[in-house]
Amino acid sequence: MTNIRTKSQIEMIREAGKIVAACHENLRKIIKPGITTFAIDRFVEEFIRLHNAIPAQKGYHGYPYASCTSVNDEICHGMPSGYVLKEGDIVKVDMVADKDGWMADSAWCYAVGEVSPVAQKLMTVTKECLYKGISKAVEGNRLGDIGYHIQRHAEKNGFSVVRDFTGHGIGRAMHEDPAILHYGQIGRGSRIVEGMVFTVEPMINEGDYDLYVDEDNGWTAYTADGSLSAQYEHTVAITANGPEIMTKQEF
Ligand code: MF3
Ligand code: CO
Repeated sequence: MTNIRTKSQIEMIREAGKIVAACHENLRKIIKPGITTFAIDRFVEEFIRLHNAIPAQKGYHGYPYASCTSVNDEICHGMPSGYVLKEGDIVKVDMVADKDGWMADSAWCYAVGEVSPVAQKLMTVTKECLYKGISKAVEGNRLGDIGYHIQRHAEKNGFSVVRDFTGHGIGRAMHEDPAILHYGQIGRGSRIVEGMVFTVEPMINEGDYDLYVDEDNGWTAYTADGSLSAQYEHTVAITANGPEIMTKQEF
């Protein structure tokens, strides 16, 4: 069942979203060659707690960290570790803040120093996919319209859309209905209505979309062909005036 949120409930989600966005704004400055993914995670946890919110990923189905830090061919659910980021890496940092019982979720992809032209192109195209998808998240459209436009842009650029992970409704819980597919067909899927709040979070691979999950930690998804993967994610509320990004950063 898809939850329809009131304006005041959306206001609560917006407050959680501001914390997540501000955390990403700070990460932009601290992610450089030499930092470990543990240090990124420590920053995320401290930042969220400093703003009187809870890092909701920590403890979620036993996940032990405040953030997911997925490097290069890690698609998502990368675990913070002692890995030292080096020039040319890309790292996706994903986090959820729970502020007074309301949640917002955002992932961002960061270049570590100078990255290769293909890594840069993958990041640019993936970010474009995110905003093209969000632009279709308007009342009266269908969820398939979002997926279609993301898929078209990714494939037009020679990249592929990960199938095994989707966006999701969010609010009281991190994952609510509906699932938001990042591929699909125009006019298919549920109708989009005012008051829906969900994430759009395309994971786009340089090569094929096949993946495998780390057998040891049970979480981390990698591209099967070892190619790079990028992801950007926002939490979006559907208003009478169109999609409003709850996790919008200042640039
Ligand atoms: N924030 C992720 C998402 O976009 C979920 C991560 S799973 C967790 O849905 F266990 F790490 F929380
Ligand atoms: Co999400």
